[in-house]
Amino acid sequence: MSAHSAAKSIPSKGQAGADPYAIPLAKIDVSDSELFETDTHWGYFERLRKEDPVHYCAESDFGPFWSITRYDDIVHVEKNPEIFSSARSISVVDPDPDFPLEAGFITMDGPRHDAHRKVVQPVASPRNLTFLEPLIRQRVGEILDGLPVGETFDWVDRVSIELTTGMLATLFDFPYEQRRKLTLWSELATSAPEHNVGTMDVSVEERRAGLMECLQEFTALWKERQDTPRPERLDFVTALANAEATRGLEPLEYLGTLILLIVGGNDTTRNSISGGLVALNENPAEFRKLRANPGLIPNMVSEIIRWQTPLPHMRRTATQDTELAGKRIAKGDKVVMWYVSANRDEAVFERPNEFRIDRGNAKQHLAFGIGVHFCMGSRLAEMQLRVLWEEVLRRFSEVTVVGPPVRVRSNFVRGYTRLPVRVARA
Ligand code: HEM
Repeated sequence: MSAHSAAKSIPSKGQAGADPYAIPLAKIDVSDSELFETDTHWGYFERLRKEDPVHYCAESDFGPFWSITRYDDIVHVEKNPEIFSSARSISVVDPDPDFPLEAGFITMDGPRHDAHRKVVQPVASPRNLTFLEPLIRQRVGEILDGLPVGETFDWVDRVSIELTTGMLATLFDFPYEQRRKLTLWSELATSAPEHNVGTMDVSVEERRAGLMECLQEFTALWKERQDTPRPERLDFVTALANAEATRGLEPLEYLGTLILLIVGGNDTTRNSISGGLVALNENPAEFRKLRANPGLIPNMVSEIIRWQTPLPHMRRTATQDTELAGKRIAKGDKVVMWYVSANRDEAVFERPNEFRIDRGNAKQHLAFGIGVHFCMGSRLAEMQLRVLWEEVLRRFSEVTVVGPPVRVRSNFVRGYTRLPVRVARA
């Protein structure tokens, strides 16, 4: 198994670095992962928003698909789940027919979705967060205190992954010292070629074996926590093992739900932690503003998530013929909502490409989606980022990116595999 190597063999389509306005509209393919790895997707989305906001790509590595690039059109798709279904797949890529792992309730529609979501939702409720926050803060403190002051280190590995995996261990009440297993399982789940995340190179057998180990370990925890009274700090496993709607889950359904909760919280939070630091380093005036007024942290957290948009898209499948912005979408068509574009939509965000920690409407971003599938962990993620920046400001006078970030080659996860950083004590 080797990390960070898959998907590199896909040949370049020649879009990255080219002039987005020089390519015929019909040829534009924004599912091209190289655009995200090289951070050169912006011009393509800007052009689509202006010239063809509901755009048909007839040929891509993932078959034909529609791209929805304006904010309001995405809201329309999200708010009409009976026309735009989540059931087939939530990414531009279709599921692997040989290992069709339903990814929990994010790939369900209607009442079944609602019943499953309701079971785990209380873990992310404001009341439960007040119990979780002190433990998360303590773990953030330990991780920051262990950083090598004055030396270059990889922020992705030492901070973003550590914090995220620590948060996940807290949410599952999973043995903290074994937390890196959660990172491994998340990467295994998304490493199948069809996910196109490209952070790990594994064989189909290795992937299955790893995920079955995940199921085994979590089944043991399930058994321990079955028929127990609700703990003060509710965790995902206890919630699932004791609720009417989920206590009879089949093993593969349980695995699907676990994977959703692990993956849902992993790449997203991790890349918001890295992305925030990149944004502050690229915008030193904003970093100064933050130091002068730490009260801006909660708003900055929303701006970081808007600016980074760690999941560039979600996909729906049309359940019937329909029309959107004058285009006829046929039953069965793939409809891809590009949040990464909506969050830079000039009609909603003034000077959208600027990172401004006091932006008035930063919270209006669509990085968490909107509607029935709105991110269940949004408050958790915001809390994790808020606590991180509060603790960083308390400890360090400088947090400096000292080399070029390495980005993930994926159209589904927008993030970083490496970010060299140095810190200096306050
Ligand atoms: C910055 C961090 C995060 C971002 C940007 C993010 C983004 C998203 C997006 C875009 C969706 C789909 C929304 C839609 O289709 O309308 C989603 C759903 C979901 N997220 Fe997050 N997420 C983040 C953190 C988390 C965390 C920490 C967890 C919990 C462990 C989590 C759990 C979920 C779950 C369970 C769903 C499925 C909701 C449903 O189908 O009803 N997410 N997230």
